[in-house]
Amino acid sequence: PARQRLVVGNWKMHGDLDLCLETVSVLADVVVPQVALVLCPPAPYLGEIRRLAQGTQLATSAQNVAELSGGERTGEWSARMLAEIGCSYAIVGHSERRRHHLECDQLTAAKAQACLDAGITPVVCIGESRLERDNQLTEHILSRQLRHLVQIPGWRDVVVAYEPVWAIGTGTAATPDEAQAAHAFIRACLAETDPVAAGDISVLYGGSVSEHNAAALFAMPDVDGALVGRASLSPQALSRIYKAA
Ligand code: G3H
Repeated sequence: PARQRLVVGNWKMHGDLDLCLETVSVLADVVVPQVALVLCPPAPYLGEIRRLAQGTQLATSAQNVAELSGGERTGEWSARMLAEIGCSYAIVGHSERRRHHLECDQLTAAKAQACLDAGITPVVCIGESRLERDNQLTEHILSRQLRHLVQIPGWRDVVVAYEPVWAIGTGTAATPDEAQAAHAFIRACLAETDPVAAGDISVLYGGSVSEHNAAALFAMPDVDGALVGRASLSPQALSRIYKAA
């Protein structure tokens, strides 16, 4: 599919029922043509957000999903279950999953394919750490992460999120030029497998996106939107970021 602009608000393990209600009431009537707005609350609130958002343009994402379609896996949920409740995206391979739950490139790719099999769009997170950037390993890390991704048959239909780990939750976002350079590199890597798909895929930036830096990031030619963490806990801030897209 052709490139789609989108803003994804990832609450991480924050929020409550009140925030579900407040977020949907603030954002339900905010519509930016051609830009998708996706709410990504903790899994226990997905059904509530779907219910509240019925009849609005708001889309929903899970923060994680199993790589399997079912089975004896206490604590996991499948992409089919997400699809069944009207959830249309799932984040996979977030750096916090990689770091705290030891998820690797192979597992992330398998989760992405499980989403695609169920009709869910995976938002595949990649990005380098501070140490890796300081050692000029950014391109090496990104190409390794993408090499695993392009091995799944459905990779052309994923959304990629470039999230430099050093920018996540630090208040220091990548500069627009840094983001653009990484996004262009990501497309160049993907183009080695399929140049047309590389141009069509949506690449989001994530890491300390705020209402103050969003417009400058979105102005970059290869930045198709944002994966917003902290700022998405304020419906007003999320609304302003969405309007900047
Ligand atoms: O998924 C969101 C990213 O990890 C960014 O989080 O906006 O709080 O830095 P942040």
